[in-house]
Amino acid sequence: MMLDGKTALVTGGRGGIGRAIVARFLREGALVYAADLTPEGSLSAHDDDGSIFVKLDVTQEADAIAAMEQVGAEAGQLDILVNAAGIEIEKTIEQTTLEEWNQSFAVNVNGTFLTSKHALPLLRKGATSGTSASIINFGSYDGFIADPGLAAYCATKGAVHALTRAMACDHGPEGIRVNAICPGYVDTPMLQSFFTGDGSGGGGKTIDQLQQAVRDVHPMRTYGTPDDIANLVNWLASDEARYASGQLWVLDGGLSAQVQQMKL
Ligand SMILES: NC(=O)c1ccc[n+]([C@@H]2O[C@H](COP(=O)([O-])OP(=O)(O)OC[C@H]3O[C@@H](n4cnc5c(N)ncnc54)[C@H](O)[C@@H]3O)[C@@H](O)[C@H]2O)c1
Repeated sequence: MMLDGKTALVTGGRGGIGRAIVARFLREGALVYAADLTPEGSLSAHDDDGSIFVKLDVTQEADAIAAMEQVGAEAGQLDILVNAAGIEIEKTIEQTTLEEWNQSFAVNVNGTFLTSKHALPLLRKGATSGTSASIINFGSYDGFIADPGLAAYCATKGAVHALTRAMACDHGPEGIRVNAICPGYVDTPMLQSFFTGDGSGGGGKTIDQLQQAVRDVHPMRTYGTPDDIANLVNWLASDEARYASGQLWVLDGGLSAQVQQMKL
């Protein structure tokens, strides 16, 4: 088992990608705290999986402090923090209200900042006796290149990328590695709402047609599953990744490697 004896906290831990990460960490032997707004997160129900639910709104500093107090009292240290909580607003800047803009940054950027800040004392305890602690943030391929109609989301993910590098520089000397996962399209409730939302540019297409169109544009002719993401998160969390820090790991089936095909 790759994470035997380690303690992990995953924000957005009851969302589509978060659940797959939590499940993988549990299979690898970790003690896992799944932090989210509700026990169900972005899905309609949740069966007990052996993780410990922590109610955490990542926009609230008091919640971050309370969550880390709980982990500290119960586990004594933290080895792995995954900042997977996120929201996506499907609008251009002209359509986006200041409130929506601020909420996007509150969850995606402030949430990563606040949870990481208050996890650091416990992560330093994890980074002892030759093993490093690991923070894994969630960026996006949208932090490099833009999908139309996702302006605030793209801006937040670019900020998470820059923050990841800054945190890696500051906390590497303490034995804390910091990386970001940058997924392309992954089949979760967030992607489903993109297909059904106003910003999808669907123009009368059915969801099946939209999904096929998205698959077709990928070099690998598919989009990702939460388990695809959890595989890389698991490796970055493990001691095998002891030399990996400060990087933005794109997992997108080759999508961002290609120029758009001309339709002749
Ligand atoms: N699905 C994709 O295609 C995709 C692509 C690129 C990046 N991402 C990123 O991956 C991460 C996970 O996304 P997902 O697809 O699993 O989405 P999701 O909507 O299934 O899950 C997100 C989770 O975050 C939680 N959350 C939202 N606001 C919160 C808050 N204030 N405090 C705590 N939790 C909160 C939700 O309850 C939900 O459980 C996000 O950061 C997202 O931006 C997803």
